[in-house]
Amino acid sequence: MRILLYRPDSEAQAWTADFSKMLPEADITQWREGASDKLPPCDYAVVWAPPAAMLRELAEVKAIFHTGAGVDALLKFGDALPAHVPIVRLGDAGMGVQMAEYVLHAVLRYFRRFDDYEAQARKGEWTPLPQHRKENFSIGVLGMGVLGSRVLDALGPGVQCFSGTTELETFLRGSRVLVNMLPLTPETSNLLDRSRLSALPHQAYVINVARGAHIAEPDLLTLIKSGHIAGATLDVFRNEPLPVQHPFWQEPRITITPHISATTLRQESVAQIAGKIRDLQAGRTIADVVDRSRGY
Ligand code: GLV
Repeated sequence: MRILLYRPDSEAQAWTADFSKMLPEADITQWREGASDKLPPCDYAVVWAPPAAMLRELAEVKAIFHTGAGVDALLKFGDALPAHVPIVRLGDAGMGVQMAEYVLHAVLRYFRRFDDYEAQARKGEWTPLPQHRKENFSIGVLGMGVLGSRVLDALGPGVQCFSGTTELETFLRGSRVLVNMLPLTPETSNLLDRSRLSALPHQAYVINVARGAHIAEPDLLTLIKSGHIAGATLDVFRNEPLPVQHPFWQEPRITITPHISATTLRQESVAQIAGKIRDLQAGRTIADVVDRSRGY
């Protein structure tokens, strides 16, 4: 069986070595843009940020494995993607625990007012502040996929579920902390605009670990400056890396991290994809096949 691997970073060699270990029966070929006009024939493709020209040539493969959780960067190619080839995303593969750590940290930092204490400490100020109360501190997690569910487990019991756009406003009104974990699709793009962010309670806190395009960035900034939203921890942005002139950098109530809330772990991912390839070879169905009509 032949696997074609594409990554634009310097990791391709390490991925190839891991695949050779996990699937000794497979032939692993790396492909680089400009390396040759034609793709070598293959049964499966394992890709990260591939060019559209490569995807067009994958019409004969049995599956395209995307080495990330969100597939928006792949689906945006639309017709360049062979319509009948299954696209498979990662299912957790070590991301759930990373997301849980990140979100828990951000929630506790706000809940226990470490952000305020950091600001005070920089001024040499020693002032105990009133504590937030748990009963006024509902956490709303938008998105109940594999990763969202793992984060909910980490946050503790007492989960109430809302669904669809009709219940969104009620959900937002009750969320003192909003954690965005939605997939990016045409329906969810710009979902958190000025009116939806304004529906959050006074002094709400926003955590975004999904995609920057879910949030209308100028609206979030305006609502933070006006004091309606207390602050935000943002791991994802419309343009990444976040441009140096972006006003978020100048806002002390916004904590910025460089898209690291859950990174792809190579060994876990290779083990998962190898298992799925074995299942497909044996005629078994696999999880995490993207439903293109839903967009995730
Ligand atoms: C990272 O953002 C991913 O989708 O894997």
